[in-house]
Amino acid sequence: MVVFLIVPFLIISFMWKLFGNIKVKDITNRHVVIIGGSSGIGKSLAILAAKKNAHVTIIARNIDKLSEAITEIKENAINPTDQKINFVSVDVTNFEDVENNLCEIEETVGPIYMLVNCAGFAVCGELENFTVNQIKSLINVNLLGSIYPIKAIVPKFKERKEGIIVLTGSQVSLFGLYGYSVYSSCKFALRGLAESLYMELKPYNISVTLALPPDTDTPGFKEENKTKPIETLRISDMGDIFNPGDVANKIMRDALGGQFFSHIGFESFITTTLCKGMSPFTSFFQVIMESMIIGWIRLISSFYVHRFHKIVQLCYDEKKKQKKIKPNM
Ligand SMILES: NC(=O)c1ccc[n+]([C@@H]2O[C@H](COP(=O)([O-])OP(=O)(O)OC[C@H]3O[C@@H](n4cnc5c(N)ncnc54)[C@H](OP(=O)(O)O)[C@@H]3O)[C@@H](O)[C@H]2O)c1
Repeated sequence: MVVFLIVPFLIISFMWKLFGNIKVKDITNRHVVIIGGSSGIGKSLAILAAKKNAHVTIIARNIDKLSEAITEIKENAINPTDQKINFVSVDVTNFEDVENNLCEIEETVGPIYMLVNCAGFAVCGELENFTVNQIKSLINVNLLGSIYPIKAIVPKFKERKEGIIVLTGSQVSLFGLYGYSVYSSCKFALRGLAESLYMELKPYNISVTLALPPDTDTPGFKEENKTKPIETLRISDMGDIFNPGDVANKIMRDALGGQFFSHIGFESFITTTLCKGMSPFTSFFQVIMESMIIGWIRLISSFYVHRFHKIVQLCYDEKKKQKKIKPNM
């Protein structure tokens, strides 16, 4: 069965190398703003932007973490005397603060060319165990925390007829998993936001990229793991854990290449290809290649889905044995 999947994957990779050359935009001397740039994937993206000779502003709340990250980003700047590397402390859930600060940094550093929305966090658990405040907080940061900065910057991007927007979703933007009911709702919503924006902004030469990172070894991921129910932990154990530098590299390449989706690794290739549906595409060649393998991928994915449900059922049975669940009446 694996042969059915690997052979088309290899053919596509080969054809992609031959015909799928992507033009990558240059960000030298351009102003790149990374929200959530003091830690994890966002910090790695900021380091990459500095290595690409861009002016970099990172935004987050905690000033100590921001200052530490700035030192690291500056060490990676290739032109430290000319590159402007700054931070601003803003809570991304407050629209007025976000708008005012984006305006200010445009005046001091220069027009923003690339906006990366990477602020976010996950809390796992069964829906009934969340407090209403936890639910609101997840929605505020993970969803409104992307809508607000984009709403603030889009009029300027439209006026200048250029810009790059990155939204950071997750693999659970594509499919739901045990324990992710609230987080996954926010990340699914980001997909709707990204697809609509892509259509609204394309005529203005503004690109939109939706990053779909898999499990990535960051401080945020370590916190998330503490909240995972046993079912979620066992399902997560089936996948690989990626390095934030590699994930950031792929996001940067896809965003500068104008790709709509950014994913990394074989499993994410499978899930993203399977779930593309009515999403935007950048080449007919890509669509033809994908349409050739989607049927097989659906078949393979059914084994994963079956396995996930089996894990959940096993955990249920274990809990029942330990009398943590009441027997059926
Ligand atoms: N790591 C993974 O496995 C993984 C997988 C899929 C998707 N993602 C997504 O990728 C993004 C980055 O994740 P990560 O693991 O790199 O997280 P991380 O290490 O915890 O970094 C999160 C960043 O967001 C900032 N932030 C959080 N709340 C904020 C707020 N209200 N206002 C402004 N900034 C805020 C944090 O700084 P302050 O706390 O100081 O504000 C920090 O800079 C998130 O959207 C996450 O959902 C991560």
